[in-house]
Amino acid sequence: MSIVVIVGAQWGDEGKGKIVDLYTQHVDVVVRFGGGANAGHTLVVDGNKIVLHLIPSGVLHPKTRCVLAQGTVVDPAVLLREMDEIAARGLLGPGRLSISDRAHIVLPHHPLIDGLREGEAGKNAIGTTKRGIGPAYEDKIARRGVRMGDLLDRARLTDKVERNRAQWQPVIVALGGKLPPLAETIDDYLAHGERLKPYITDTSRFVAEAIARKESILLEGAQGTMLDVDHGTYPFVTSSSTIAGGACAGAGIGPTVIDEVVGITKAYATRVGGGPFPTELHGDEGSRLREVGAEFGATTGRPRRCGWLDMPALRYAVRVNGIGSLALTKLDVLSGLGELRLCTAYELNGQTLSELPYDDFDKLVPVYETMPGWTEDITKCRSMNDLPVSARSYVARIEELAGCKIGLVSVGADRNETIMMHDPFKR
Ligand code: GDP
Ligand code: IMO
Ligand code: MG
Repeated sequence: MSIVVIVGAQWGDEGKGKIVDLYTQHVDVVVRFGGGANAGHTLVVDGNKIVLHLIPSGVLHPKTRCVLAQGTVVDPAVLLREMDEIAARGLLGPGRLSISDRAHIVLPHHPLIDGLREGEAGKNAIGTTKRGIGPAYEDKIARRGVRMGDLLDRARLTDKVERNRAQWQPVIVALGGKLPPLAETIDDYLAHGERLKPYITDTSRFVAEAIARKESILLEGAQGTMLDVDHGTYPFVTSSSTIAGGACAGAGIGPTVIDEVVGITKAYATRVGGGPFPTELHGDEGSRLREVGAEFGATTGRPRRCGWLDMPALRYAVRVNGIGSLALTKLDVLSGLGELRLCTAYELNGQTLSELPYDDFDKLVPVYETMPGWTEDITKCRSMNDLPVSARSYVARIEELAGCKIGLVSVGADRNETIMMHDPFKR
C-alpha cells in the first residue's frame, strides 16, 4: 500500500497524464485534488490517444476507482461529455467514479467573465484557458460559491445561483456582457445534477475508507508548481493550490499519510499563456522544440512557449513540494540537437541568483551550462544503459543540479515508451 502525490514541477503539461496512467497499474484509487477543466491530460495507449480534462488519468485501468475531490471546480457539462466518452469505451462501470458533494461548480457566467476580463486586460492578460476557473475559485473563497451537492435540490440551487448572479451582475455589465438567462441555467444544471446524482458523494470519507483498507492511492495534481497561486509566478498563475500540500486540503487527507511525492518535469521547459519564462527560446530553436515536441495546448490548442530546462525553478519545485523523485519526460524530443543547455542560475542587476526571487522574474537573465547532444532515436530505449552516453550524462546532470533522484525517464508519448527505475507504488 502506498499513498503518492504526483505534481507538475514546471508550468503544467509536463506529461502528468501519461505518468499517472502508467503508475495506475498498481493503484486502487486515483484522486484529482485541484483545478478544473483548465487541465488537459493526454494518455496514449497502443497508439490511441485520449485527452482528459476532469476525469482522473487512472480511468483507463478498469479496476481503478476515480475521484474528483472537493478541491476541484467542476463544469458539469464538460464532465458529462467526458463521462459519455469514457462510457462509450466501456469504462464507466458502477462505482468507478465519485464526485465530491463539496466540489464547487463552474456556472455559465464564469467562463463569460473569464473571457471578458481577458479581452479587456490587453498586454496584462494572463492568457487563461477561459474555462471560468478563476471566477469559480473566487466565488468559493468569497463564500458565495455553488457546490455539487446543490445541484440535487431545485430550491437550494435557485437560491444560491440567484444570490451568486446578483454579485456578478454589475461586473458583467461593466465588462459589456450579459448574464445568461436564469431559468435556463437552473433547468440545465438540475438536469446535470439528475445525471450526476449516482456519483455525488462525500469523497473525503471515500478516500479515508480506502486508506483504512490499506489500498494504494494516487493523488493526481493538475497544472504545475510555477502556476500555483501561492508559490508560482504570481499573478501569472492559476487560482488554485497546485503543489503537493494542495493534495491534503483538496482531497481531505492528513499530510502524515503521504508516502512519497513525485514531481514530473519535461527535459526542457514549456509554458502556455502569459507571464515570465526566463529560459524561453524565441527563434528557430523554440520552434524546433514546439514542432518536434508537438507543443500545442491539450485544452485550448494554443502553441506552447518553449525553452531550456530551468534548474533553479526545478530546485524550487523540489523544495516546495517535498519531491522525493522526479519523472523526466520527453527526453526523445531533444534527440538531434547538436548542443543542449541547462540554466543553472540567473543574473539580476549584476548579482548571481541560484534560486528564484519573489518577483522581477522578467528581468532574470539565465546563466547556461552547455552539454553535448545525441543523434540517435531513443524511443525504443527501455533501460538507462540503452541510452546514448550524452543522454545519460544529461539526465545525471539534471539529477545533480536538482538535488533529487530521477526515478523514471519517458522517451515517447505511449504508455510503454518508458524507462522505469523506481516505481513509487512498489515498496
Ligand atoms: P499533462 O497536462 O501534464 O498531462 O501533459 P499534456 O498531456 O498536456 O502534455 C504532454 C504531451 O506530451 C502530451 O501530448 C503527451 O502525449 C506527450 N508526452 C508525454 N510524455 C512524452 C514523451 O516522453 N515523449 C513525447 N514525445 N511525448 C510525450
Ligand atoms: P495541465 O493540468 C498548462 C495556465 C493558463 C494560464 C494560467 C491561468 O494540463 O498541466 P486558468 O485558466 O487556470 O485561469 O489560467 O494557467 N494553465 C495551464 N497551463 N497546463 C495546464 O494544466 C494549465 N491550467 C492552467 O494557460 O497561463
Ligand atoms: Mg496539459
